[in-house]
Amino acid sequence: MYETYYNLACQPFANTPNSRFFFETDQHKEALAKLEYTVRNRRGFALITGEIGSGKTTLTRTLIRRLGSEARVALINNTRVTSAQLLRLIAGEFQIQVAASADKSVLLTAIRKFVEQQHSVGRTVVIIIDEGQCLSIDEFEEIRLLTNLETETEKLVQLLILGQPELRATLKHARLAPLIQRIVMYMHLMPMSFDDMTRYIAFRLVRASKDKPNVDFSRNALEVIYEYSKGVPRIVNLVCDNALLVGYSNDTRLIDSKIIRRAITQMLPNFDGVSTDLLGGEDEPARQELDDGRRI
Ligand SMILES: Nc1ncnc2c1ncn2[C@@H]1O[C@H](COP(=O)(O)OP(=O)(O)OP(=O)(O)O)[C@@H](O)[C@H]1O
Ligand SMILES: [Mg+2]
Repeated sequence: MYETYYNLACQPFANTPNSRFFFETDQHKEALAKLEYTVRNRRGFALITGEIGSGKTTLTRTLIRRLGSEARVALINNTRVTSAQLLRLIAGEFQIQVAASADKSVLLTAIRKFVEQQHSVGRTVVIIIDEGQCLSIDEFEEIRLLTNLETETEKLVQLLILGQPELRATLKHARLAPLIQRIVMYMHLMPMSFDDMTRYIAFRLVRASKDKPNVDFSRNALEVIYEYSKGVPRIVNLVCDNALLVGYSNDTRLIDSKIIRRAITQMLPNFDGVSTDLLGGEDEPARQELDDGRRI
């Protein structure tokens, strides 16, 4: 809607885990490098936890793109399933043909055969489980059976599990100790720092623009975004997307703190009032604040 106005080719702050928009903060870069290392060196099992909306899924998409055709990847997003369903999903991702009536042991055998075949032709087999916080202890134990496949020097299945912070509580369970001992890399993703967020916003604008984006965010605007989002990328995206819409509707290419506050107020669902309308509506009372800071 506002893209042409700001000289953008597409929406810069779409909330999708698009690897083309992957921005390397220090911790995202480190997490990606460690995941890639685990997979390429066939080390076995990596775990990433992170706050809601901190970039876990985006990380997996970026990793998959980097691995390219040398790896066979099963990406499991739906973890509200039984352990048999989970194995079936994994088999499905690898396009392994199994009878609809196949039970857990049949599924496990089929997956193992597939893994060994892939290994014999030099391909790495990766199972990525996103939304790991929804898995139960039983499912984790089932998954552990897959990590048992190994040669003397390497693991045949690379298992990457990502999930929200509560995943840590599940993994503390005594029954999962054998699985935890197999973790070769663990990281917890935190929200971005203010400086990272500033660079993140600039990066996404440039990435989405035809040549140069025709929009500025004032320093105060950035501070309000940070105050509200606490550096969580998904919330930063939401605020910035709304702010661009408010700026466009107000015919200004300078996004200042007033626009940000208005965008935030209008995007919050007001369940007791009338629906929000970003383009129309009354002006909020002017705030006494100067917007003369650094621009990006
Ligand atoms: N490093 C990054 N580079 C670019 N965009 C990012 C990055 N991290 C997060 N995002 C953006 O933030 C949004 C939320 O990230 P993502 O869905 O990856 O978070 P998540 O940790 O998987 O969240 P949840 O806990 O809800 O599963 C993404 O749609 C993406 O647009
Ligand atoms: Mg996610």
